[in-house]
Amino acid sequence: MAASGYAVNRKQWNRLAERFNSSVCNIVEGERGTVIPSLVREALRRRPKPVVVDLGCGVGTFIERFGEKFGETVGVDFAERMLVGARRRCRKVPRVRWVCASVEQAPARVGQIADLSVCLNVLTSPNAALRRKQWKSLAAITVLGGCTLVVLPAIESAQLVARVEEQLRRKTASLAGADAEGAVFRGKARQKHYTREELREAAERAGFRVLRISRVYYPWADEGLHTRSAVTRGRYPWDWALLGVRRTRATGPK
Ligand SMILES: C[S@@+](CC[C@H](N)C(=O)[O-])C[C@H]1O[C@@H](n2cnc3c(N)ncnc32)[C@H](O)[C@@H]1O
Repeated sequence: MAASGYAVNRKQWNRLAERFNSSVCNIVEGERGTVIPSLVREALRRRPKPVVVDLGCGVGTFIERFGEKFGETVGVDFAERMLVGARRRCRKVPRVRWVCASVEQAPARVGQIADLSVCLNVLTSPNAALRRKQWKSLAAITVLGGCTLVVLPAIESAQLVARVEEQLRRKTASLAGADAEGAVFRGKARQKHYTREELREAAERAGFRVLRISRVYYPWADEGLHTRSAVTRGRYPWDWALLGVRRTRATGPK
């Protein structure tokens, strides 16, 4: 099916900065707050006091929560207003600097310095060529043997949400507009959603060895469903969180 709808661009992210400040999609809050810390602990065991680069850091929720544990932190985002929010939120976090740049520009702007690269819900462009370039950037800023922590929307979760919406006889939203490449409508914007296997393949292609892929559950309210119905009981939507290690030499297909 021909894909209409748009990818969220820099101007729109700047507009969204205020909503992010009031904690929309806070990846380290609530239920999400148990999986991410355990992956961060695992990364810290491998590389204590790491240099951390958070690509697409938004208003700095990850850096605010974990920055103190890091040797040095660099927050990168292409939306200046996100960085204004991040500076404010993280004013007490030591050893942080902020860089206004795109994911694509990051290797040239920050170099290959990350003992831990972080990229939370950013690699979601429906444009496959751009996504490949961004995965390469993520690898290029990560030192050999360093870790990466990536969170991305799960297509399996979008399918669950669509089924629940249908069962609740709500107007179905997301999957009706999904294309063969897995780009799914979130409101009017299209975002690439990943199957577990596809995420593993994208990370391996970029040069990472995958250590773990976990579900990061989030509340139904984030999908606009305010229900206690039996249909949703015990089930939650989720993102995929991946922890990987930058391979020290190429072992697989590029
Ligand atoms: C969904 S938000 C996630 C923010 C943060 N990682 C978090 O989890 O709270 C996506 C962020 O990535 C930024 N972003 C999107 N595409 C980008 C790109 N190509 N280069 C740099 N930043 C980008 C947006 O400005 C926004 O701050």
